[in-house]
Amino acid sequence: MVDYLTLKLVHQTTVLLSIAGFALRGGLMLADSSLLYRRWMRSWPHLIDTLLLVSGIWMAVVIKLNPLEHPWLASKLIALLVYIGLGFVALRLGRTRRIRVAALLAAVLCFVYIALVGLNKTPLPF
Ligand code: HEM
Repeated sequence: MVDYLTLKLVHQTTVLLSIAGFALRGGLMLADSSLLYRRWMRSWPHLIDTLLLVSGIWMAVVIKLNPLEHPWLASKLIALLVYIGLGFVALRLGRTRRIRVAALLAAVLCFVYIALVGLNKTPLPF
């Protein structure tokens, strides 16, 4: 059985890898690089993000955190859905460059919010 500290370390590491990967893909999008559409460039972020989610959910299960009882966790999950949607618009669906750039910036802010909520355990970490 994986212990809690290992799960937390995986969560912290994948948080950093995930935002680094997102920033890299955002940079490729801004540079109109075809690298963004390579298969491997699309597959490794899925692996990192899956580890990020699984480690987070696993920790919540281990310490019996119910999002319905802990607003900070519910906020994280809602913000995560917003982040995923903004990421899709920024890297795939946005029709104009302006929309993609706006979605990219909003997604980064959303990610920072999720990280601050995780660190401070409050839905309003500012
Ligand atoms: C983009 C997605 C996510 C990001 C950026 C993120 C970020 C973070 C950060 C920065 C921490 C603080 C770690 C520390 O204290 O050093 C944290 C803690 C935590 N996260 Fe996440 N997280 C994400 C998704 C999730 C998900 C989906 C869940 C589970 C439903 C989750 C559950 C937790 C839990 C339970 C903690 C508390 C760990 C502790 O302090 O013992 N996270 N998260």
